[in-house]
Amino acid sequence: MTRKTFKNDMSMMYTFHDALRRELGRIARITADTSDDPRRVLQAAIGWEMFKRYLHVHHGAEDDVLWPAIRSAVQDRPDELAVLDAMEAEHAIVDPGLNAVDAALADREGGPERLAMIVERLVGGLGGHLAHEEDEALGIVDAHVTPDVLQRFGAEHRIRIGDDNPRYLPWLLDDANADTVAAVLGLLPEPLRAAYRNEWQPAYAGLDIWGPKGGSTEV
Ligand SMILES: [Fe+2]
Repeated sequence: MTRKTFKNDMSMMYTFHDALRRELGRIARITADTSDDPRRVLQAAIGWEMFKRYLHVHHGAEDDVLWPAIRSAVQDRPDELAVLDAMEAEHAIVDPGLNAVDAALADREGGPERLAMIVERLVGGLGGHLAHEEDEALGIVDAHVTPDVLQRFGAEHRIRIGDDNPRYLPWLLDDANADTVAAVLGLLPEPLRAAYRNEWQPAYAGLDIWGPKGGSTEV
């Protein structure tokens, strides 16, 4: 996939979006496989709780720090404001989408087909939002963001992750290519890099967050 080039470093945004897309693929794979009850598999998977938590971290930091700062920089530009309006509107439908999945997981009557349909909607909606953000909003961010805003956005992300780095970082980098892993780990001091390699990543791998079916790379 060819990605736009920006004057600001947007690599963490893409790394995070790629992690979300990876997990959406795994969720869809679980719900499409009816050889075992996907409601049971997804409900038991720690990956589903992690997916929701980290998605909220990312969208919360964008809603509270990034979009308001860019909005005030483009207040006289209706076309750019319309894209920001769309970002906020697309974020607003994510929670109902997640709640609908949880309701389908709890619904003993609805059957796995209903769950698969609701997950398909979430995959389409969130996947579409990520593409829209990358295609239209990031260019606007790139044109108007200041180093201070980027720094505050990153800090807000880190505050929301809190002391969850031992689980969050291996989640973020699960399946990432070597360059991305090196770039993200390069932001950390050496003791944390060592903790990632020697403790956090092996512990995350042992969690098997989606169970054997969700983690499979077969399609
Ligand atoms: Fe984003």
